[in-house]
Amino acid sequence: MKGIILAGGAGSRLYPVSRIYSKQLTLIYDKPLIYYPLSILMLSNIKDILIISNEETIPHYQKLFDNGSDFGMNIEYALQTAPNGIAESFIIGEKFIGDDDVTLILGDNIFYGNLDFIYRAMQKNDGATIFGYRVNDPERYGIVEFDDAGKAISIEEKPKEPKSNFAVPGLYVYDNEVVNISKNIKPSPRGELEITDVNNVYLQKGKLNVEKIGRGVAWLDTGTPESLLQASNFFGVIEDRQGLKVACIEEIALTKGFIDKKKFTEVLSKIPKSLYKEYLERILKESH
Ligand code: TTP
Repeated sequence: MKGIILAGGAGSRLYPVSRIYSKQLTLIYDKPLIYYPLSILMLSNIKDILIISNEETIPHYQKLFDNGSDFGMNIEYALQTAPNGIAESFIIGEKFIGDDDVTLILGDNIFYGNLDFIYRAMQKNDGATIFGYRVNDPERYGIVEFDDAGKAISIEEKPKEPKSNFAVPGLYVYDNEVVNISKNIKPSPRGELEITDVNNVYLQKGKLNVEKIGRGVAWLDTGTPESLLQASNFFGVIEDRQGLKVACIEEIALTKGFIDKKKFTEVLSKIPKSLYKEYLERILKESH
């Protein structure tokens, strides 16, 4: 399974900072936003990752992650020249995906809680697996309609009259067919290759699996100043209470066995004196 993080976009709702700064580099409490979706891919054991972004932002990601070897991963980068839609990821990433299945996560999507069911769904994926999460404001999202038996029967992008409150979060698992399907869909009236159109092709083929996410999981979507502040507060409270960090990629690399203690120590030596470093030193001391 390969992983793609789509982390470009216009970020226009964050104007004026979006003139100079990518949303996915914004600090969520104590680390850049992109660490959160990256950690989800790591926790599901994906080590081959493509980060797709724009020309200005790719060098920043390269500075953060380089080729991924500090974290025991292979991280590559690819250019999206304009925000032409989420489904363009599979066209840009065709060579990287090769013959594999692929999980796509949006660079501004955060999941928190017991995510085992997500990792399991990824392992037994046949066709496409997407998720449904109950939200209060369904008009803003791709919305899934279910029949009485709980089977997905339609997905509508930003519907004026939503048929349910179940939004599709930015985490999608596909078999290799997704590359061909993406190449064959047409841009929508807003000029984007829509991920909802890709999902509808799988739905028509009877190959779309929609897993509902329960209320014990937090899915935070961080496109606006308010939602960024909420996410920072949320993780500030949790990390402060537990004394453990969420989405600390060095810690995850060590605990998942992507790197050994020797490599971890080498990575530590490159980090300047900071609370983040002190935390990693404690993790090393406490690891067995
Ligand atoms: P959006 O929230 O749809 O858009 P945006 O980030 O450009 O922000 P705004 O609506 O304020 O202009 O994007 C969701 C995520 O997907 C975000 O991480 C950016 C990324 N994205 C791309 O990288 N390329 C694209 O073509 C699209 C549509 C999104």
